[in-house]
Amino acid sequence: MITFDKCKSFKGTIRVPGDKSITHRAILMGAMADGVSVVENPLLSRDTHATINVMQQLGVSIVNERSRLLIHSDGVKNFRESYDVLNCYNSGTTARLMMGVLAPSSIYSVLSGDASLLRRPMDRAINPLKQLGADIRSKAGDSLLPATILPSKMKAAEIIASVNSAQVKSAVLLAGAQLEGATSYIEKVPTRDHTERMFAAYGIKTESSNGKITVYGGQLQQGKVNVPTDFSSAAFFIGAGLIFNGSEIVIEDCGLNPSRTGLLEALKQLGVNIKTEITSNEVEPIGNIYVTSSRIKGGKISGEIVANMIDEVPVLAMIGLFGEAPLEIRDAKELRIKESDRIAAIINNFKALGAEIEEFDDGLKIYPLRSEPSRATLLAYDDHRISMINIILAKKFGVKILMDNIASLDVSYPDFIGDLLSIEEK
Ligand code: S3P
Repeated sequence: MITFDKCKSFKGTIRVPGDKSITHRAILMGAMADGVSVVENPLLSRDTHATINVMQQLGVSIVNERSRLLIHSDGVKNFRESYDVLNCYNSGTTARLMMGVLAPSSIYSVLSGDASLLRRPMDRAINPLKQLGADIRSKAGDSLLPATILPSKMKAAEIIASVNSAQVKSAVLLAGAQLEGATSYIEKVPTRDHTERMFAAYGIKTESSNGKITVYGGQLQQGKVNVPTDFSSAAFFIGAGLIFNGSEIVIEDCGLNPSRTGLLEALKQLGVNIKTEITSNEVEPIGNIYVTSSRIKGGKISGEIVANMIDEVPVLAMIGLFGEAPLEIRDAKELRIKESDRIAAIINNFKALGAEIEEFDDGLKIYPLRSEPSRATLLAYDDHRISMINIILAKKFGVKILMDNIASLDVSYPDFIGDLLSIEEK
């Protein structure tokens, strides 16, 4: 059990680590390319190490040189068959994107993962890849890992999204980049577009209009990616800054891709205006975020915006505990199949704090906390994003809050505690 001392507020400037989604993609594409690729400012965490390890098992050389990764590869066509399973650990992004990378190849491979990943649905990526001709076999009628990927004859085609998922879109596009001709993916709700944006750096042509993304197959060329910092990690500082009176936080040089910043829109709907300033806009927009503690109105957050803040719902829910009126979050059913069932995890923890919560299949309604909890135990559910809101709540209420475990932090933000404590005011 871990306890934290209460603090008064957070003040200072912070720079969060590199973006997890973009780091995965930069490693994958660098490994698929023929030549030497460079990934600057990567996130080095348990999840991205899963992608690195899998690529090393396939014969790609990846070297960590100060704050960059050097990737030497003979290209995806020369991947070496691995005699062991490819372990994706906790990383859904690694598992689903690797399916797209490996499905068109001529090698035999088996993808697996940790206990949490073995429970997460894989049919969402397997089915569209099968529509392109992939031969992927997995447990429980193609829905769970381990999955075996066999050589197959795949053909470019048009795929219509059946779930709102950037991981599925990326799996299809990474396969399409290896097929002759044009492969398209049509999504009803826009999801994070890092894959589409990055292809150009590796010499692959794409087009995108009205929700239809087309990739033209070809050999990926060596490339260079400068990874922006991770808005999803910054979100925890936005949450902390809002709920601790007197806080003033500047989050500098942060990724501000609009397909990721739905949280800022949602906060606007709750009466909180977070100032941002774009400082550069090359492949991905980057800028500063200015957070001060604020009054938070209640309201309802639902619809398309939720897809652009899916990883930030735990932070938003935490903010809801300190609002002036209840906060309802809907259309967030995807949260049930993340690293944990995040709706259930949030509800159990917030109830332990004494909050009144209503549960829906696709969300929850949080009633503001009426009094400071005197004792509570918050569980991590082996989920990094749940652990991070628990730590902020523990800092808010002091030593009476106990946490069971924080080991999962290294999935996306290994030094979260150090960074948070570096700006605390006691
Ligand atoms: C990710 C997409 C999201 C997100 C995950 C990372 C990605 O998942 O929750 O943390 O890198 O593409 P879905 O696309 O399944 O919603």
